[in-house]
Amino acid sequence: MADYDVIIIGGGPGGYVCAIRCAQLGLKTACVEGRDTLGGTCLNVGCIPSKALLHASHSLHEAQHNFAKMGLKGKTQSVDWKQMIAYKDEVIEGNTKGIEFLFKKNKVDWLKGWGSIPAAGQVKVGDEVHNAKHIVVASGSEASSLPGVEVDEKIVVTSTGALSLPKIPKKMVVIGAGVIGLEMGSVYARLGTEVTVVEFLDVVTPGMDGEIQKVFQRTLKKQGMNFIMGAAVQKVDKTKTKAKVIYKLRKDDSEATIDADVVLVATGRRPFVDGLGLDAVGVKMTDRGQIATDHWKTSVPGIWAIGDVVEGPMLAHKAEDEGMAVAESIAGQAGHVNYDVIPGVIYTSPEVASVGKTEEELKAAGVAYKVGKFSFMGNGRAKAVFMGDGFVKILADKATDRVLGVHLMGPAAGELIHEACVLMEFGGSAEDLARTCHAHPTFSEAVREAALACGDGPIHS
Ligand code: FAD
Ligand code: NAI
Repeated sequence: MADYDVIIIGGGPGGYVCAIRCAQLGLKTACVEGRDTLGGTCLNVGCIPSKALLHASHSLHEAQHNFAKMGLKGKTQSVDWKQMIAYKDEVIEGNTKGIEFLFKKNKVDWLKGWGSIPAAGQVKVGDEVHNAKHIVVASGSEASSLPGVEVDEKIVVTSTGALSLPKIPKKMVVIGAGVIGLEMGSVYARLGTEVTVVEFLDVVTPGMDGEIQKVFQRTLKKQGMNFIMGAAVQKVDKTKTKAKVIYKLRKDDSEATIDADVVLVATGRRPFVDGLGLDAVGVKMTDRGQIATDHWKTSVPGIWAIGDVVEGPMLAHKAEDEGMAVAESIAGQAGHVNYDVIPGVIYTSPEVASVGKTEEELKAAGVAYKVGKFSFMGNGRAKAVFMGDGFVKILADKATDRVLGVHLMGPAAGELIHEACVLMEFGGSAEDLARTCHAHPTFSEAVREAALACGDGPIHS
């Protein structure tokens, strides 16, 4: 038993960042994590492993499709799947060990085991009860499935199973054209799997800018991914080695089936609070199963909550920002997160990234806006590396020129978007961006050109 200023439950991006910041601010801090490694969903079965497989499969695509064009010839590459998985596992290990190192460096105690809250001010781990002036719940989320769909992580898998399949399937059905479905679908499509995405809505990646949704889906189709849109999956029937997905088309209620070796269920994630004992201690929940918070404070004084387990986008960087804000609030500083400027990135190739309002949201809110667009076809660097697909779209207030939203599909979109984030944090205008010198030749020149398109016009289109 020990006394702490802060105990954080969960060692994911929300929890570990909060712990490190608490320690940096002079608070005696512990972090409880039940997995064998730190880093949460993100480092173990989420962001990092998926990006490793995206990188490996993209490299294969480059070797197969673009090397010869550049005069790079020789034996064509083939896939050693075991090695690819080993590479992914090594990446995970390097990253999770890195957090362990950071804990030691910052003197954060890792309390190994599953934690619960027997009473406000107390955290139980195994048989030990520790005292804490503040408790931060950062217990994250888990994949949610559908009624009639039983996940076995072998034939019917969540993203966790999809990151460690024993072999590359011939046919994969992905249920849900959200971020996980399209990222993991891309991985397997590039590795030669016949991938069909079955989506309830008529558009991919709900919530994204409508124009991006259309062009993105068209691009993925060109890359060989199949889409069945407006289709509600009813159930999945399994044999020992295969599965049959039964869906209903929303337009005429007709039923159809599609076979697969592996079915990836990617229909969203839900907050994870099992075993914490929140109910008994009086922590209120929302009707969507999240912990209800006001500036990360729960209904019980001294208990805070952050990350996937609370409202807002289920993104690692949102969890991290909340982690820092809570640490600063506990230390008596002014913790702050600007929820209007949280970027979203899809790490397909090309990447898709967005921040701020979509055109649809501005229309619905009756905001007068202007649009500045620029195609990567007009960007010399992008064309040189076979990445001319895609565009930058800037939405700015018609009267004031203030940038309200930026949507990108193209090379390094996930990096370029931060140019927009910084601009928007400072309340900048399209003209501010357009008048900023951009190095040549860079992909970011396309962002400047889109900003120029909000004014007197771009140069290279
Ligand atoms: P988590 O990362 O889920 O961590 C919570 C931790 O708490 C877990 O390790 C869990 O074991 C532990 N825990 C729970 N209960 C207890 C308990 N009682 N006692 C002890 N420990 C407990 N987001 C992005 O921003 N970018 C991406 O590219 C991205 N890719 C993703 C890819 C996939 C396949 C998936 C599934 C998710 C991805 N995400 C991505 C989402 C991202 O992983 C989450 O938003 C992020 O991990 C949330 O952080 P968190 O700290 O709230 O929770
Ligand atoms: P999601 O919410 O992004 O997408 C789920 C999709 O499934 C939606 O398009 C929905 O319409 C569809 N769907 C729901 N029920 C269906 C049914 N019965 N039949 C057919 N389609 C159905 O959820 P996803 O992709 O599972 O991702 C979960 C979370 O993980 C997201 O919130 C995301 O933020 C996070 N994540 C982030 C990544 C990133 O930032 N690059 C990468 C991967 C995950």
